[in-house]
Amino acid sequence: MIEQSLVLIKPDGVQRSLIGTVIQRFEQVGLKISALKLVQATRDQADRHYALTEEWMMAVYTKAKTKYEADGKAFPYPDHKAYGGSIKDGLVEFLAFAPVVAMVVEGEGAVALIRKIVGATEPASSAPGTIRGDFSHDTYAMSNLQNRPIRNLIHASGNVEEAKNELPIWFTPSEIMTINLAVEPVQYDEKRFRA
Ligand code: CDP
Ligand code: MG
Repeated sequence: MIEQSLVLIKPDGVQRSLIGTVIQRFEQVGLKISALKLVQATRDQADRHYALTEEWMMAVYTKAKTKYEADGKAFPYPDHKAYGGSIKDGLVEFLAFAPVVAMVVEGEGAVALIRKIVGATEPASSAPGTIRGDFSHDTYAMSNLQNRPIRNLIHASGNVEEAKNELPIWFTPSEIMTINLAVEPVQYDEKRFRA
C-alpha cells in the first residue's frame, strides 16, 4: 500500500545543518517527497503534534524505564503520568523553539520503512546506518539528568493512523502534491522498464 508519513527535522537537526543529509536518506531509498517546507511552529501547533494521550505516556514511560533497568539503574519517575507529563512540556517548548523542516514522504509501506531509516527513539541505542544512530548519540539518562527532551533530530509518524492525524497539523491538502517521478517506472513498473 502506498502510504504517506509526516516527517519533521526537529530544531536540533536544522541547527546542525542536516536538512540535505536527512532528505537524501529518504530519496536514496526511492521514497518520494510530496510536500516540503520550513516552519516556525507555534506552541499550539507543537502541542497538537504531541497529543498527550494515556497510550503515549505509557509508551514513553515503558521505553525509558526498560532501558534504565537493562542498564541496571532504577527509573527515577513513579508512573507514566509523571514522566509523560514532564516530557510533553519540554517537547512542545523544544519543537517551537526554532524552525523545523516539515515534509510528507510517500511510498510503498512508507510509514514503517521511514521508522526503520530513522532508528530508535534513543540515538545511542539506534543502529548505525539509521539517521538517529549516525548523527546523534544522546541517551535517556543524559536527557533526564538535564531535564530536557532527547536530541534525536527527527520525527516520523509511528503508524498509519498517527500519520493521518499529524498531516493536517502541518499541511493543507493543496500543499501535498501528486507527483509522478521519472524513476517510478524503473522502480515499480515491469511493463515500462525491461532490460
Ligand atoms: O519520536 P519517537 O516516535 O521515536 O518517540 P515517541 O515515544 O513518540 O516520543 C516522542 C519524542 O519525545 C521523542 O522523539 C523524543 O524527542 C521525546 N522523548 C524524550 O525526550 N524522552 C523520552 N523518554 C521519550 C520521548
Ligand atoms: Mg512517536
